[in-house]
Amino acid sequence: MSDNYYNTIAESYENLYKKEQDTKLNLLKHLIPKYYHITPNSKILDAGCGSGFSSDFDCYVVGIDNSEQLISRAKQKYNANDKISFILSDLNKKLAFKDKEFDITISLSAIHHATHLSRLLSELKRVTKSFIFISFPNRITRYNDIETTLMTAIQKNKLGLIAKIEHDVDNFFVIRI
Ligand SMILES: C[S@@+](CC[C@H](N)C(=O)[O-])C[C@H]1O[C@@H](n2cnc3c(N)ncnc32)[C@H](O)[C@@H]1O
Repeated sequence: MSDNYYNTIAESYENLYKKEQDTKLNLLKHLIPKYYHITPNSKILDAGCGSGFSSDFDCYVVGIDNSEQLISRAKQKYNANDKISFILSDLNKKLAFKDKEFDITISLSAIHHATHLSRLLSELKRVTKSFIFISFPNRITRYNDIETTLMTAIQKNKLGLIAKIEHDVDNFFVIRI
């Protein structure tokens, strides 16, 4: 097992972050319907899904994360739901999905961990049909650098930034494919 930070806090992850996660997920669930109508047959990719908290949608969801411990917790938690699956996967590598496999992609509080944001956005664009909803924490010291890198990556990949929502914990970005 790799020795990453999220593996070491996996057991207490939800207790530590539940309040923030609730706030972010609430905002996301209000934001998505403005751009995309989720049906029971929709397919969502949750990039950096952690314990599966952000994957809780009433449709098909694939959550990916590089923490074995968090993926294992997500699998335990959602093992009765055959529409949700979780796959150990690194956001810094090519994703093992077909082109346009997902209707939308979401990624809550994870992209600031990517070592090459432009390459990640290129992969998310490849596997997504319509919109990418991204958030990342606005109180981190690298915030401005990450936002600048994200804007450059959006342009480079010929994507469209259609909304930025400033929020208590994370800022949200709605990106059109
Ligand atoms: C703050 S957590 C957010 C988890 C979840 N989206 C949520 O809102 O509850 C950040 C997540 O990004 C994952 N992560 C960090 N680097 C990653 C990488 N290179 N590939 C995949 N996941 C990564 C971590 O394991 C962690 O689960």
